[in-house]
Amino acid sequence: MVTEDMDKNIVLIGLMGSGKSMIARELGKRLKVPVVATDDLVEAREGEAIHEIFKSKGEAYFRNLESEIIKEVSLRRGIVIDCGGGAVLRKENLQHLKGNGIVFYLQATPQVIYQRIKNEGHRPLLKVPDPLGRIKELHQQRLPLYNQAHYTIDANDASIEGPVVEILKKI
Ligand code: S3P
Repeated sequence: MVTEDMDKNIVLIGLMGSGKSMIARELGKRLKVPVVATDDLVEAREGEAIHEIFKSKGEAYFRNLESEIIKEVSLRRGIVIDCGGGAVLRKENLQHLKGNGIVFYLQATPQVIYQRIKNEGHRPLLKVPDPLGRIKELHQQRLPLYNQAHYTIDANDASIEGPVVEILKKI
């Protein structure tokens, strides 16, 4: 594919730790297109890290900001959008993202995700006594929403090469 042809966006959704950010960066590099992460844009707009926003203003405040950002970036074309794991929670978010975008769900099992992120301390939703149980819960709750993606990509392997090639084949 010639990059100038990319008038659609590539949208990555999936649970935290599914590899969205690494895969998004690699796609951006190979296609020579901009990559935006909704979490980064939320942090930049608010001047605060996500875990601080959760702590000081609560999850609902964060979700409102996230929706605003998603609405804005969805209007762009030819970019890779790395979405926060909860971006699918509001129906309108997915509708906006699908407007100009091909949506890929990066599927990884709760166990794989837990192994990847168990030593990271900055995830507000996982600051609980049983993080694996919490990941399983989130996975179960969100699966029907993630399944609304155009494509599901297996992201269980430690290497990002497989998912990157899969996505490039589909666009
Ligand atoms: C969240 C995932 C995070 C971030 C916030 C909430 C979620 O993004 O948006 O902590 O609800 O799953 P990543 O999936 O990029 O870690």
